[in-house]
Parts: sequence; C-alpha cells; structure tokens
Amino acid sequence: MGNIQVILDKLEGFMSQDQIFSFHEEINRHFESIRSKTGKGNDFLGWVDLPELSGDDLLSSIEDSAYTLAACSEIIVVTGIGGSYLGARAVIDALNHQFASLLSGRKSPLILYAGHNIGEDYLTELLDILDQRDYSIIVISKSGTTTEPAIAFRILKNHLEGKYGKEEAVSRIIAITDKEKGALKELADKEGYPTFVVPDDVGGRYSVLTSVGLLPIAAAGYNIRELLKGAGDMKKLIMGSGAMDSNPAALYVAARNALYRQGKTIEIMVSYQPKLYYLTEWWKQLFGESEGKENKGIFPAGVGFTTDLHSMGQYIQEGLRNIFETVLSVEKTEHSLLIPENKDNADSLNYLAGRHIDQVNKMAELGTSIAHVDGGVPNIRISIPEVNEYYLGQLIYFFEMSCALSGYILDVNPFDQPGVEAYKKNMFALLGKPGFEEETAAIRKRISRE
Ligand code: PA5
Repeated sequence: MGNIQVILDKLEGFMSQDQIFSFHEEINRHFESIRSKTGKGNDFLGWVDLPELSGDDLLSSIEDSAYTLAACSEIIVVTGIGGSYLGARAVIDALNHQFASLLSGRKSPLILYAGHNIGEDYLTELLDILDQRDYSIIVISKSGTTTEPAIAFRILKNHLEGKYGKEEAVSRIIAITDKEKGALKELADKEGYPTFVVPDDVGGRYSVLTSVGLLPIAAAGYNIRELLKGAGDMKKLIMGSGAMDSNPAALYVAARNALYRQGKTIEIMVSYQPKLYYLTEWWKQLFGESEGKENKGIFPAGVGFTTDLHSMGQYIQEGLRNIFETVLSVEKTEHSLLIPENKDNADSLNYLAGRHIDQVNKMAELGTSIAHVDGGVPNIRISIPEVNEYYLGQLIYFFEMSCALSGYILDVNPFDQPGVEAYKKNMFALLGKPGFEEETAAIRKRISRE
C-alpha cells in the first residue's frame, strides 16, 4: 500500500531546491516543540496522538451507537458548524455515492446537515423532508453554546418530539460535547441523551478523528478503523522521518511557506474530483482559522476543476500574480467508464473513443498545471492513490500536522481563533442578548450615525 505524496517538480523556475530545503532545521524545531508540547497553544495538541489513542472500547461504542441510530433512520441530521461538522462531511461526501439521496436500496442512512447556517428557508425545507422520513439527530458542539447549531437543534428537537413523542425522541438523539460544561451538556443530562465527549485538548477543526467525525462517518456506513489506520500510518511516516524529502508534511510546509515569503499570499486548493469538494472546505477552515491572525497567513481558497476553469480559470491564468495552487491529484477512480465510438462523429469526439473519462480528466489536469506554471502560478501536487477511508485518514493527518507546523513557522498560535468572536459580539448586541446591554447601546449609536 503506497502513501500520499507531495510532488514539487512544478516549482522549478519559481525557487531552487535549496530554498525549499533551507526550511529543514526550522521545521525540525517545530516538530520537536509539537512532540514536547512546548509551542504556542500546547494545551490543544490532543489531535497528535488520536490515531493510536482511540482505543477499541471507544471505537466499539461509536460503532454500536452508529448502528443503533442507523437501524431506525432513513436520514440522520448532523447538527453542527465549523470543525463540528466539516470533517465528517468531507469524509462522507468523498466516499458517498454522489446521488445517494436518489439511490434506491441504500444500505445506510442518508446524512443531512443542519446548524451550519442561519437559513430560515434551509431549515423549513429540511423539515419538509423530515416530515416524510424516519430520522435521528447527532448534535455536535464542543462549547455547547454556538448559536447556529443551538437554534437548529431547538427546532429539530421540537419536530422530533412532535413526530415520535418525547420518549422515543430521546433514543433518536446523540449529543457530542464537552465532558462537563456548556448548555448542550446540561440539556443532554437533563433529557437523558446518550453523549460522546470532545476531548479538552482537541480544538474543533482538529477534531475529525474524535467522535465528532467518527460517529457521523460510522453512521453513514464507513469504516472508521481504516480511517484511523491511514492517519496512524501517516503519523509514523511524518513523525518518524528526519529526512525532508521522504516527509510529505515537511515538503508541503516548506514549499508553501517559501512561496508565501515570495509574496504568494493566496493558496488555491484544486481538485478534479467533485467528491472532494468538502475536503477542500474542511482544509479551508483548518488553515484559515489556524493561520489567519496577527495580520499574517496564507489565504486559503478552493476551486473544482475542470468546472471552475470556466469561471476562475481566466483569473488564475492571467490575474494578479500572488497565488499558488495545491492540486489534489487522485490516481485511481472508483468506477470505470469509456467514451463510446459514434458512427456520425458529429461532435468530432471519435479521437477519444475507447478512452476512460478519467484519462481526459488527467490530461486536463496536466495541461492546466503546465499552463498555470507558464502563467506564473506555481503548482504543488498532492498525489492520492485512491479515495477510500485509508487515504482520507492519511490526508487528514497530513494536513493537520502541516497546518500546525505552518502556524509555528508564522509564529502564531494555530489552535485558537480569537477573531471569530468579533461577529458574535455584534450579532448578540444587535439581537439584544442579555449580558450585552453595553454593546447593544454602542452598536445602536454607531448604526444611527452611519
Ligand atoms: O475550529 C473551531 O474551533 C471552530 O470552527 C468550531 O469548531 C466551531 O466554531 C463550532 O464550535 P462548537 O463546536 O463549540 O459549536
């Protein structure tokens, strides 16, 4: 079984090997401060050891709960936001049939999401579907106080109790939250919901390998042990290897930071597989919240090619030259579909007859990276043997470690997110939340002036 690989040949012309390898010592120092837990935010390093710390008892209990919930549900609504939902969605969407909602004879429940927006229409239309189907809820909030999932859960809980009665509703809800504090923990204890704990030392965006990600992924019918095995093997590779060229995290971190120091301030994650859309969303949150602080950080963006070549392609080819691309390159697709021969050849596509669709996709990928490199956009390629639980586990661990190291290179704390509070303070003041009286008065004054 191979590993994901970081390939830097498309950086030639932008920087020398020496520039990349000059990060070696610095990266090793940061690896050491992660190992010895001496760097910034070191009380949030629990994710480092999750692959081997998630013991058999915890995994069996997650699998049993997932099985019980799935057995009585056509739909499971995962309710959470940010790190409390993106990791699970990234993995489930990457593995799911893309038209799962229309597929008859599905073996596992369909996973839908709530609490990741404040959309009145979104929730109303979700309830329309839940009126017609058997469903359960996994509600996830580490703090237990986040407004978006709290509103959604209040609505869904009322609906579930109305549909099944209070007693059965309790058996259709699982809460994942702090072990002792927060409104969700209090509610779960009061109502008697089964709960799983988000470890104190694991922040939201690093929590996909805890029950936060594992329970929804198991409920969707996927193998969480393989996911953890992939993560564990990646951990051994990147923590065990002193040599930079055999360490994918060190290579990626060195390359992206060398580019940043050259003024490439935007990293665009590119995928040619629509199934990886949410993996990019998860990556954006991981890197955006971890690095973007103290007026520093690479801005993480995402595109899906070839679709977005017809929208963003022009800008990437010829716009402002402050971007680089990181391409998620999947070597082997799950299915096989050939382009057929056509007698008339009215569309002039017979030159492709007999070839796999993915061969065309691969040539689009190669042709695009050459064009973008020629246009001044450096490319990093991450080669993924195939999309399955094992390699998704590798990718998750690889990106988490790369993100922590990159944060340390920027000299920021990659595990906090103080900037997220600013919008919340204003929103609470505008809504007149008790305890925010001073802020309410100040913001009203400001609005009336503007
Ligand atoms: O990474 C983070 O810490 C955040 O994105 C959180 O996951 C997000 O804000 C949700 O927080 P909570 O789980 O407390 O509801």
